[in-house]
Amino acid sequence: MKTFYIETFGCQMNVHDSEKVIGTLITEGYTQVEQPEAADLILYNTCSIRDKAEQKVFNRLQQFNKEHGKGKVFGVLGCVAQQEGEKIFDRAPHVSLVAGSASYTKLPQMLVQLESGNRRVTGLNLDTEETFETPFASRDNPHRAYITIIEGCDKSCAYCVVPFTRGPERSRTSQAVMAEARELARMGYTEIQLLGQNVNSYRDPSPVAWDFARLLRAMGEIDGIRRVRFTTSHPRDFVKDIIDAIDENPVLCNHVHLPVQSGSDSVLNRMQRLYTRDEYMRRIEWMKKARRNISITTDIIVGFPGETEADFQATLSLLDSVEYDSLFSFKYSKRPNTTALSLPDQVDEDEKGRRLAILQEKQRSIQIHHNSALVGTIEEAMVEGYNQATAQWIGRTSQNRTLNFTHALIPSPGHGDTLAGKYLNVRVTRAGPNSLAGEAVL
Ligand code: 5AD
Ligand code: SF4
Repeated sequence: MKTFYIETFGCQMNVHDSEKVIGTLITEGYTQVEQPEAADLILYNTCSIRDKAEQKVFNRLQQFNKEHGKGKVFGVLGCVAQQEGEKIFDRAPHVSLVAGSASYTKLPQMLVQLESGNRRVTGLNLDTEETFETPFASRDNPHRAYITIIEGCDKSCAYCVVPFTRGPERSRTSQAVMAEARELARMGYTEIQLLGQNVNSYRDPSPVAWDFARLLRAMGEIDGIRRVRFTTSHPRDFVKDIIDAIDENPVLCNHVHLPVQSGSDSVLNRMQRLYTRDEYMRRIEWMKKARRNISITTDIIVGFPGETEADFQATLSLLDSVEYDSLFSFKYSKRPNTTALSLPDQVDEDEKGRRLAILQEKQRSIQIHHNSALVGTIEEAMVEGYNQATAQWIGRTSQNRTLNFTHALIPSPGHGDTLAGKYLNVRVTRAGPNSLAGEAVL
């Protein structure tokens, strides 16, 4: 049993966890294959943030088992594993491994147990101070690399499973994080994305005790690193020093994702978000007053229990006040263990759908307006690849906008010419709600 297949659901933390899991499996003598049919060990790294995400995992397990599952070993990793625990063995008896992210340091031992025929292997202990340190993470993208700086979450937002699935906050030492970043720069990576459920509460456990802004400044000074991004931020722990650091150094990308969830104080209070709309707006003002043009994005939940029409209107008015560059919006979904489960006045599904559509339509017009203002400007794009269908290079700006463009001298990849990984100036010629298009400046 030495080949494995892994499929990943969910957020960037999960994507990067998988990169580390793959690195660990390869170190243990396994080979990754691209098709589950060809694998001895099939792993699903799962997400349980909303009910739909969780259902996907069980559908995948049933579907594959029926068709091609004979003789294979199945493992469920990640947030559904942690949340459902050994119940997964009842629901999907062909599963042999159930492990949450706080147990990945024990993967080598768990693999030994699987190899010796144990068909009920678990890693479900959340009570840990360890972070998942791997000598090797298998990174797919040759230019952009994720680095975890903090695992877990100590907040208790009323709707959220993460504190139950990823355990308490644990920060890595700044020395380990910096060493990883320098090594990545040496290998040719130019963009680093710092990851954590709440990067703002990063606190170096070693005596130097760096906070997040200090770490960010140090990252911006590494030779060879041209862009540093971070996600995700909690408004409560978001301090002005972070904006000052971004203002000081163009290597730190001018984009902040600051999830607000709702524009209504009473909803924010019941969500246990620990800030008011005014306190949130103060952070937005810091960004609007910054020297650099900082792009602001957010997450919003509609239909949280007890959300009235007036509460929803408050969220719409917040969209007008902030003018986000982009947002992710979700219908509230009931999650096990969370305090919101027992709140009265659940909003019905149709009403959630109606609110979501109104919110998205409003945001779409804000984005059209914002993006059209960029026509005629010159933006630096990091080239991510090439789109055959549109015959355009795919680029991304520091503000994290997609900027697709043509290049008069290198119209397409071929003959050893590729622009992937390069940083080019592009003149913006067209704008849509979700992306920009332009021509490379020669
Ligand atoms: N229902 C709907 N959306 C949720 N999110 C987190 N939990 C839930 C839930 N129970 C959203 C939040 C968060 C994003 C990652 O997912 O907006 O910021
Ligand atoms: Fe999904 Fe949240 Fe877990 Fe990420 S941390 S995989 S978004 S449940």
